[in-house]
Amino acid sequence: MDKELQQKYLNEIGIVVWQERNFENLGNLDRPQISPKDSINRKELLNKNHNQHLLDLQEQVKTCKECALHQSRTQTVFGAGNTQSDWFIIGEAPGSEEDVKGEPFVGRAGQLLNSMLLAMGLPRNEIFIANILKCRPPNNRDPKTDEVDACRKYLKRQLELIKPKIILALGRIAAQNLLKLDIPIGKMRGNSYLYPNSNLPVVVTYHPAYLLRSPRKKRKVWGDLKFAMQKYKELT
Ligand code: URA
Repeated sequence: MDKELQQKYLNEIGIVVWQERNFENLGNLDRPQISPKDSINRKELLNKNHNQHLLDLQEQVKTCKECALHQSRTQTVFGAGNTQSDWFIIGEAPGSEEDVKGEPFVGRAGQLLNSMLLAMGLPRNEIFIANILKCRPPNNRDPKTDEVDACRKYLKRQLELIKPKIILALGRIAAQNLLKLDIPIGKMRGNSYLYPNSNLPVVVTYHPAYLLRSPRKKRKVWGDLKFAMQKYKELT
């Protein structure tokens, strides 16, 4: 990526000093995309079966009534992005803006996340992003255990179909539920975990919404993102 551009994105997330890295080969911008609703561009599909399975899953999620959140949601938020990405970003649950738009991370936290990703050399259309929960918890409360359990199979299937090479988990709720661990996020950071019963590495960092409240943590997050990039490089 252009150095000036990277500096701009780093400035946006509050990091003014960084170590030079080679960000090449982080992916292919021409890969197919899945949009928030159900508009996978069929002409661009490289693998019809793969994407048909994702469309089927998206339909299944749309009509899901397996927990009480279906009663209060405006719509489900399946996930969005590149369906063949090596990078799978996982957040907590849709907020009010996501619930209205049907797309993950479209609010203020999403803007910050976009800058974080761009600083890594990953435009938003280069990654796939989804949440632990596909429906918004009322008043943005934390997800309940039964909601996470009911939704787990959808995320599992998304991972099976998309087959990313690395997961970046955003925040405590995402990290703990994904890994089924009860470790404080501060202790998880800087370690690499494996998604249960797989060889898929998971790197953990703070949630961008937390960074909006605690901007001094941005430097730590940039360290986590560099760690994730290093991990990815080792895999490819
Ligand atoms: N926070 C999340 O964890 N996910 C979203 O989609 C939006 C905000």
